[in-house]
Amino acid sequence: MSALAELYQKIAACRDCEELANTRTQTVPGEGPENSQLVFIGEAPGFHEDQQGRPFVGQAGQFLEQLLNSIGMRRSDVYICNVIKCRPPGNRDPLPTEIKNCQKWLDQQLELLSPKMVVTLGRYSLAKFFPGETISKIHGKARRQGNVSYFAMYHPAAALHQQSLRQTIEADMLKIPSLLAQVEEVKEVKEENKPQQLSLF
Ligand code: URA
Repeated sequence: MSALAELYQKIAACRDCEELANTRTQTVPGEGPENSQLVFIGEAPGFHEDQQGRPFVGQAGQFLEQLLNSIGMRRSDVYICNVIKCRPPGNRDPLPTEIKNCQKWLDQQLELLSPKMVVTLGRYSLAKFFPGETISKIHGKARRQGNVSYFAMYHPAAALHQQSLRQTIEADMLKIPSLLAQVEEVKEVKEENKPQQLSLF
């Protein structure tokens, strides 16, 4: 069993948030290739995700898939997960303690995946990787930390029905392929021990 599959088992057994553990149908750890260079992180599972145990399988997920298609990718090419691994009842906002309890799973996931680029979708993943920042200011820009580039996008569910946001999220998605290529370039530069130079923010 892979380390990621072992992690999924631990997540499935997690009862750190009593209410979520008692009300969930199942945990939704995330899915995608274990060697994915690109990881998308949403907020929390909703009704359909809780039923199926898979992230982004509802309307927002269909839109995310369309956005991926616009850059020549399929859903199965990327890794998709959420900040919270259980559905908050009634799709309420996750509580600060729930976010804190669940943090260890996302951290371990990212460590195992070791992606080149992390894309935040919506406010909870934004708050984790861009603390104190506002989405209207930083969406569509990348920030590099170590060997990973972080890129903030609006949540597809928010952008789906609001025309101006929809155009924004579509335009932001189109920036991802070149940013991903740029991270690779920086890695090569690092191997030759030259100073790193990527600052996109
Ligand atoms: N919204 C999210 O943030 N995550 C999902 O998995 C589905 C909808």
